[in-house]
Amino acid sequence: MSKELVLKAFEKVYGDSKNVSVYFAPGRVNLIGEHIDYNGGLVLPCALTIGTYAAVRKREDNSINFYSENFPNNHDFEKYPRAVIKSLELTPNQGFDVAYYGDIPNQSGLSSSASIEVVTAFFLNDLYDLNLDNITIAKLCQRAENEFVGVNCGIMDQFAIAMGKKDNAIYLNTETLDYTYVPIDLKDHKLIIANTNKKRTLADSKYNERRQECDEAAKMLGVDYLCQLDRVLPLDDEILQKRAKHVITENKRTKDATIWLKNGDLKVFGKLMNESHDSLRDDYEVTGVELDTLVDSARAQLGVLGSRMTGAGFGGCTVSIVKENAIDTFIENVGNAYKSKTGLTADFYVVEIGDGPVKLQ
Ligand code: GLA
Repeated sequence: MSKELVLKAFEKVYGDSKNVSVYFAPGRVNLIGEHIDYNGGLVLPCALTIGTYAAVRKREDNSINFYSENFPNNHDFEKYPRAVIKSLELTPNQGFDVAYYGDIPNQSGLSSSASIEVVTAFFLNDLYDLNLDNITIAKLCQRAENEFVGVNCGIMDQFAIAMGKKDNAIYLNTETLDYTYVPIDLKDHKLIIANTNKKRTLADSKYNERRQECDEAAKMLGVDYLCQLDRVLPLDDEILQKRAKHVITENKRTKDATIWLKNGDLKVFGKLMNESHDSLRDDYEVTGVELDTLVDSARAQLGVLGSRMTGAGFGGCTVSIVKENAIDTFIENVGNAYKSKTGLTADFYVVEIGDGPVKLQ
């Protein structure tokens, strides 16, 4: 469906779709290990089956043209693919025309920006025979975001997207980039993503601020990364103390949660997801009334093993593990509770874990 949509978009803008190639890169959801990928910590994200499609064709001349079916009248999205071209240091003699279409809800914290970055690097790699492996693609896309978009993100999103594997989470050490795949067998449960639909104004600047706080705390404690510590040491500054506490405890939670997941104990895994959210709310302070309301009412429902915010926070999405036969009631009850508390309407997605980037045509 989405492949046809992106081809149609290409034809509409560039005339015909002769010799066009189509590529796909997923979005991602992080199960646990939040805000620690820039602290050398452990994370457990997975790629989704929703993502970004790109229909591309080389041109004879050297011009480069972007179009997005999601933003037909707004070219702001171009900053991501343009940043990737800069990061790859590409100055081709032959340019290209590209049309994008994404089925990841925008601004939702499911990494639509990393998804467009990775799909772009992936098709450029193919189009210009760059011979890059997917880990290098992930690193170059992180560089694109850091140096050319101006968001000081870690490597988690780009890595999860470039290295995604169906029905597996990626247990990634963000300091060494060592990783293993962890099969996800949720038995009779599903992953449900709930979108706050809250506008994430200032999210990028707050994100950079948290990162600075962590760097400062690490410096005061005499380490390169906070996750090099396995217990919380006292700090003079109360705020920095709280930030460090989240980071160090979250790293441990991720390690433990992965062991429980491997052992098939979803109950304890869910409990650690809950604790992760509480730490992000109380110590890292990146949640807010919208995410907290979704999480609180999710946890009050039958058949819910765990619920937490996912991604950068300040709005965006939650992820919950919900028993299949309780999904309809979950969506109705959480949706109603959320609407009456915040006045906003949440969107719900029952998601599947998918593969990394592919060429479809
Ligand atoms: C954003 C960033 C990631 C990571 C998460 C929080 O998604 O892009 O690098 O820091 O926030 O875990």
